[in-house]
Amino acid sequence: MTQDEMKQAVARAAVERIRPKLENDTIIGVGTGSTANLFIDALAEVKNDFGGAVASSEATAERLKSHGIEVFDLNSVDQLAVYVDGADEFDRHLHLIKGGGGALTREKIVAAVAREFVCIVDSTKKVDLLGEFPLPVEVIPMARSYVARELVKLGGQPVYREGVVTDNGNVILDVHDMEILDPKGLEQQINNIVGVVTNGLFALRAANVVLMGTESGVETLHDTH
Ligand code: A5P
Repeated sequence: MTQDEMKQAVARAAVERIRPKLENDTIIGVGTGSTANLFIDALAEVKNDFGGAVASSEATAERLKSHGIEVFDLNSVDQLAVYVDGADEFDRHLHLIKGGGGALTREKIVAAVAREFVCIVDSTKKVDLLGEFPLPVEVIPMARSYVARELVKLGGQPVYREGVVTDNGNVILDVHDMEILDPKGLEQQINNIVGVVTNGLFALRAANVVLMGTESGVETLHDTH
């Protein structure tokens, strides 16, 4: 199986997983990225079985609408049954690094509201220790240099993602060479730097389940302490 075929398989597996729980008024949180896009395409086949979706980015909202799936403002929704999204890295505790596509803040907000977070990945995303993928940090533009200096103090090498403005009007620093031994602690520490909107560690709100596409099919992974 190619990487694309693995992504396709987990996208379909995610739809099969949530399908029995769908009701007319069910609202689903939908993530951003190439795997999430395949999920949206598969979700379109059951679009008459649920109420609609909350999108984690403008790009996702557009793709959902193009399939005729209604997109809701999160403020008009009390609860989300499930959030489905990809990741750039995950470990055996289902802690994630996300934000390669720059949508980390809205992704984290939608994930926070959802009762269940189903993460869909191919097997190339599995790591023993998070941090090989540079950790994205969304920053208020005027705080960029200050936040970069603070990230250096934490042991990282921040690189400004030039030319990128997030859906929230902010900039991204990608932090290289960060030793992430304590994902929850580091997530809090970085979020405490003034000027940081949020960072791409999803450890405080990890995934509840990871569907991982492999050469031999889709594996369902839970946290193994
Ligand atoms: C978007 O900001 C990211 O968090 C994506 O969810 C993540 O980068 C995974 O993307 P792919 O499915 O394209 O690898």
